[in-house]
Amino acid sequence: MANTAVIGLQWGDEAKGKIVDILTENHDIVVRYQGGANAGHTVVTGGQTFKLSLIPSGIFRAGVRCVIANGVVINPQTLLAEIDALKDRGVRVDADLTVSSRAHVIFPWHMEEDRILNECPTGEAIGTTLRGIGPCYRDKIGRSHAVRVGDFYEAGWRERIVAVAEAKRRMLEPLGVPADSPALDAQAICEEYSGYAERLRPFVADTTQFLLDAVEAGKRVLFEGAQGALLDIDHGTFPYVTSSNSSGVGISAGSGVPGRHIHKVVGVVKAYCTRVGGGPFPTEQDNDVGRHLRDRGNEYGTVTRRPRRCGWFDAVAARYTARLSGADALAVMLLDVLSALPEIQICTAYELDGERTERFPDHVERLRRVRPIYESLPGWQREIRAVRRLADLPVNARKYLDRLAEVVGRPVEIVSVGPDREQTVFVG
Ligand code: GDP
Ligand code: IMO
Ligand code: MG
Repeated sequence: MANTAVIGLQWGDEAKGKIVDILTENHDIVVRYQGGANAGHTVVTGGQTFKLSLIPSGIFRAGVRCVIANGVVINPQTLLAEIDALKDRGVRVDADLTVSSRAHVIFPWHMEEDRILNECPTGEAIGTTLRGIGPCYRDKIGRSHAVRVGDFYEAGWRERIVAVAEAKRRMLEPLGVPADSPALDAQAICEEYSGYAERLRPFVADTTQFLLDAVEAGKRVLFEGAQGALLDIDHGTFPYVTSSNSSGVGISAGSGVPGRHIHKVVGVVKAYCTRVGGGPFPTEQDNDVGRHLRDRGNEYGTVTRRPRRCGWFDAVAARYTARLSGADALAVMLLDVLSALPEIQICTAYELDGERTERFPDHVERLRRVRPIYESLPGWQREIRAVRRLADLPVNARKYLDRLAEVVGRPVEIVSVGPDREQTVFVG
């Protein structure tokens, strides 16, 4: 295994953090390349639980370089708080972290904009994490109001921030943000951000060329996707998506590393499905099954603590996202959450406007109209959290995994039976 990518194939929170932490053992560099502090990745090791939002989940293996690449949008306050929290718990960060000078910076006005945009004029709200992610990416694409990490180390950055803050005041005041809001106080923001920039200075580098040097030198790089492929801005359930390419297609743009250097893609799925925020979710179980999954799986958002919506595994969606992300193999996570159920369903096709289809619709309104067609499998009704070998899983659990692999069209390589690094079964 040389350069590897870990991509969530559902709506996020597939336990990518756990897989990245495990695979880091065989890599030299771990890269976050899109998203921002909307992500919450969990690593459980040595009896300790760590939640990461911006720092790559490879940070727990000393000597592995962790890179926050150009495609990430960074709230510097959040990043510095995360660095401090890790250091307080004895994790070495200073020598191992690099931040791209090309990454875009989140400002207080982005959070205001996120709040305003989230109050959808019509219909269902997107239900964002309110971390300013969408507005920051919007400014990146719009260019004129964007600030990148590297800007802080060039002359004239204060004038630029003052000008951007003034433009934001003109836009946001009519939308109800008071002119004297702290989110628009240019002088105070300059002071605050100059402090952040000084603290971040030792971490900042041209990560694009660093990563190109690394892959050309044969260093083993692990790419850590955030969110999941169904939240991809282009290929996901638009507009109920995040603002970056969170499927496998985002790796190159977000890191500067061409696709030819990515040798293997691990698609991460839960053994069922969850979604947090708005948007259609065909296999959602808004009933006792859904509540059971939420309770057993502790399905509450890592970032916002919102209860996650829960439902059966959707193989139509996963087949689509496995192809889209170039997944070679699957990591099936949280299998233990299904252990008490007498019967487990897999959605293998949809009925759309009276016709059966195995293709994932390209419009959210058509996705709203699909009716899942289920296949039912017997459960195993036995605790499996202590299992470490495939052969020790109950036969019905193995049959369930075999069927998942078959309907998604990818082999299962890793099975997770609990949050801890050790609660993992490697297949074959
Ligand atoms: P990520 O955003 O994809 O990294 O996933 P999150 O960290 O947001 O959510 C995954 C949650 O499931 C975390 O609380 C993990 O500690 C937990 N988890 C990971 N693997 C397993 C597993 O196999 N079983 C159970 N019960 N929990 C798991
Ligand atoms: P990880 O990396 C699950 C969802 C939000 C909302 C939509 C848009 O932990 O898997 P945003 O704040 O990004 O503009 O919100 O995307 N969302 C996530 N859901 N896991 C995540 O990250 C998510 N990041 C964003 O709930 O529906
Ligand atoms: Mg998460």
